[in-house]
Amino acid sequence: MLTLFIAIVIVLSLALFFIFIQPLVPLLLLKLKLGDKAIIMFYPIFGFIGIFMRSIKTNQDVMKSINVALRNNPRAKIILSNFLNKPCIMFAGTEYLKQSYQDHDDFEKLDPFMLPSFMQKGLAMSEGENWKRQRKFLAPAFTFEKLKSRLPMMNQVVEDIAEKDDKTNLNDFMSRITGEIIVKSFFGKLGEGFQLEGKEAWVALTKLTGEISLIMMDNLYAFVKSLLFGVKTWTILPTKQEKDVVRRVENVRIKLNELILNRVEQLKDSPVQDQDKMVFLDLYVTEYLKQKKQNEQQIDLEEILHQFITLFFAGTDSTATICGTCLYYLAKYPEIQSEILEEVNEVIGNADINEDNLNKLIKVNALIQEVLRLRNPAFVTLFRTVKRDKQVQDIKLKKGWALVQMHNANSILDSHFDNATEFNYKRWLSKDTIIKNDNGYIYIPLTAGPRNCIGYHMALMEAKIIIALLIRKYKILLNPAVQQIRFGIKFFQCVEPDNCVLFEKRI
Ligand code: HEM
Repeated sequence: MLTLFIAIVIVLSLALFFIFIQPLVPLLLLKLKLGDKAIIMFYPIFGFIGIFMRSIKTNQDVMKSINVALRNNPRAKIILSNFLNKPCIMFAGTEYLKQSYQDHDDFEKLDPFMLPSFMQKGLAMSEGENWKRQRKFLAPAFTFEKLKSRLPMMNQVVEDIAEKDDKTNLNDFMSRITGEIIVKSFFGKLGEGFQLEGKEAWVALTKLTGEISLIMMDNLYAFVKSLLFGVKTWTILPTKQEKDVVRRVENVRIKLNELILNRVEQLKDSPVQDQDKMVFLDLYVTEYLKQKKQNEQQIDLEEILHQFITLFFAGTDSTATICGTCLYYLAKYPEIQSEILEEVNEVIGNADINEDNLNKLIKVNALIQEVLRLRNPAFVTLFRTVKRDKQVQDIKLKKGWALVQMHNANSILDSHFDNATEFNYKRWLSKDTIIKNDNGYIYIPLTAGPRNCIGYHMALMEAKIIIALLIRKYKILLNPAVQQIRFGIKFFQCVEPDNCVLFEKRI
């Protein structure tokens, strides 16, 4: 009996140490040093993820708790939280953000899927020389000049899917459009009719990536296991759901490999001549074949596969949710909808959107900027761990600690925007100074520095087309059956429930 009692006391003490003392002591020491520059927001086990989830539950808004804390403490630049048993430092101050973006090599991104065979070799997860090579190779393909050849395809996808989709699920409807655009931008004609798991490729991939990221958020066992074992989590005492995901990922990989190999064979015999019209796969395969010929192989077929998953993951739901949220605000504010419709009719009339009229959609652009300011889908960057002890401004970060960059933190402060929490798209149309006390790091919805979003032009191009073409065709209305709107997360911040708006065809 006594032995059992002692064993229980030991286990409880260890748990107490692991869950509370280990993360809290360094956090309290930091708080002592930083004073009102730091706010402690500790949440046992779940840490900052728990803060987001609780904020959704209590405020119907994932960022509200943190935004309120920052607004109530104007001198605060850092939130001190935890990630299981480790301190998690959340940067809000621009000087901290700037240095952590510049010194990106000192921090390692935590793979949101923890799957070694999925996107780890792609641009978003690569590091060092590998990342540099990929970024240099892909960056020219993401300029406006190169992307503009995709405009007719984007128009077509929006028209087709708007016609086919029942439009009862806002976020799914938007993901269908943006997912198909990514598949077509990557695979071109080869992607037409491409199916995975018995569904259109973009539907299957959106479902799969969504399910993988939710497994860890919904299931405490899977969450703690993933924190403890990293990418090995899928093979250590996996749940039925985890086994199922691993099997499905493998099947998806086989199909994608087939498609890539198919293109390798085609381009071996007849290379694409017009460089400007190359889809991402052709760019890659052309370079792959060139390197092979010169015996200087840096790209392999696995990298091409991971790059597709990377662009799909980074570009589909992010762009879909920004569009979904814009449509929600148009439904909420019918007068804004009328103003924007007027612009769309004036600028494009019944025509398609092309490179000449795209940049004349000034109000549509202002709407997107305002939603990025207040409801950025990427509400924080991917979580990082500190690779080696690192001094950032006045904080010494220890190896292994977690880091979260809150690049939107300054967008909700009155010191930088008039009536910062108010939705006012017209602020972006003003000729006066829009951002007060700007040092270049206040409004950075797609982050800044060498690892900022490579897809910014593409996202903006897509979002303008989607919003303009949909509003021209449909009146967007709030669904009267929905009592409560929520800004939740499906990996990215999005407006929920999915049936919050209705699309009524304009005559
Ligand atoms: C509104 C839509 C989008 C938003 C809000 C967004 C936001 C972001 C953010 C915040 C990052 C930095 C992530 C981090 O450092 O953890 C990022 C990186 C990235 N984004 Fe986007 N993104 C969007 C659209 C796109 C699109 C359309 C693509 C491509 C098709 C794309 C591809 C990428 C890639 C590959 C990276 C990693 C870059 C690197 O590490 O060098 N994004 N994005």
